[in-house]
Amino acid sequence: MQMSHRISAFQCSPIRRLSPYARDAVKRGIKVYHLNIGQPDIKTPVQVIEAVHQYSETIIAYGNSEGRQELREALPGYYAKYGLDVKAEDILITTGGSEALQFAFMTLCDPYDEVIIPEPYYTNVSSFAHSAMVDLVPITSNMEDGFALPDISEFEKKITRKTGAILLCSPNNPTGHVYTKDEMLQLLNLCKKHDIFLIVDEVYREFCYDGKQFTSVLAFPEFSDRVICVDSFSKRYSMCGSRIGALISRNKDVLDNALKLAQARLCPPDIEQVAACAALKTDDSYLFEVRNEYERRRNFIVDGLQKIDGVKCSMPKGAFYMVAELPVDNAEKFAMFLLKDFNLNGETVMVAPCEDFYVTKGVGRRQVRIAYVLNTHDLERAVACIDAGLKAYRKEVMGEKL
Ligand SMILES: Cc1ncc(COP(=O)(O)O)c(C=O)c1O
Repeated sequence: MQMSHRISAFQCSPIRRLSPYARDAVKRGIKVYHLNIGQPDIKTPVQVIEAVHQYSETIIAYGNSEGRQELREALPGYYAKYGLDVKAEDILITTGGSEALQFAFMTLCDPYDEVIIPEPYYTNVSSFAHSAMVDLVPITSNMEDGFALPDISEFEKKITRKTGAILLCSPNNPTGHVYTKDEMLQLLNLCKKHDIFLIVDEVYREFCYDGKQFTSVLAFPEFSDRVICVDSFSKRYSMCGSRIGALISRNKDVLDNALKLAQARLCPPDIEQVAACAALKTDDSYLFEVRNEYERRRNFIVDGLQKIDGVKCSMPKGAFYMVAELPVDNAEKFAMFLLKDFNLNGETVMVAPCEDFYVTKGVGRRQVRIAYVLNTHDLERAVACIDAGLKAYRKEVMGEKL
């Protein structure tokens, strides 16, 4: 039977598609360090788990499509800590930041419209774009300048009558770039000039390093009518499985129209929204310590990778990912080799090949995305596996004489 043309154009996620090989490796008794996926090993705040245990409803009923009112009313207090004026009515609770991205595409764009995006970008965005039948128009950012915003003229050149929005992720997955106030302003002015939207995915807001200041797209009230912010509880409180996020906009039309999609999917998960309310009561020291832990891990992994012959990477400034360029012909083949044909004393590592984090074909073929979501002891083992794995691959597969 024929599947739709649309679904045939979807990719299997490069973050997950090598998972069967990882499972096989585990069956063969090999320990696999997962650097492929942004699943932190950080404990969820204890009051979040307690809130789940204490869920007191006798029926797990459908709730409001816009989300639990108590959660929408609690969130402005969280944003106020960043000096951001967000009201309950600006917030639509979603099933993760993923759904907020989907809603943004569907609300702003018609089929065959275009969304401009710096690449590499969070790879699942291409599936969200495909489902909305939207074309992603890439602007390539480069490792040499830390994946900073490409020149604004590059964006302007790509704007056409079909452009619905520019999409940014800050702090960035996969590059770790944190967009500056100046970069954000340049984009907002451009969006205003061409009457398009700026969508900014800020799910890693707390994770900025080296004392770097985070600038939210919500900090520019004068551009409010053309801004959507995507947010999520997943990474902030290490509660990825709870699937609670938010779409935020001060443009009432955006929220009213996105609500139609929210009504069709009925409501976000209810028990998890209760847990999210509890998460908002988390002491600031939790986020502070988690941020420091990721900064330690970042320093550790960048230092380890830079010592490996032929590996190139820039210093990520935020989130918990980095892009590394490897001395191999094809990073996907190498990633598969690590899982199928290699181990170092019974251990190996899983990484995400980067080619599908780009629209432009061929760019990123030698790159992998690494999520430094493991403790430094495990990261040390993982780096040793990458080092030994590279030597083995270059010798056995590429036929190099090392
Ligand atoms: C940049 C970015 N946005 C959105 C998401 C989706 O997160 P969730 O749906 O768990 O909120 C992720 C997940 O890794 C991400 O990295």
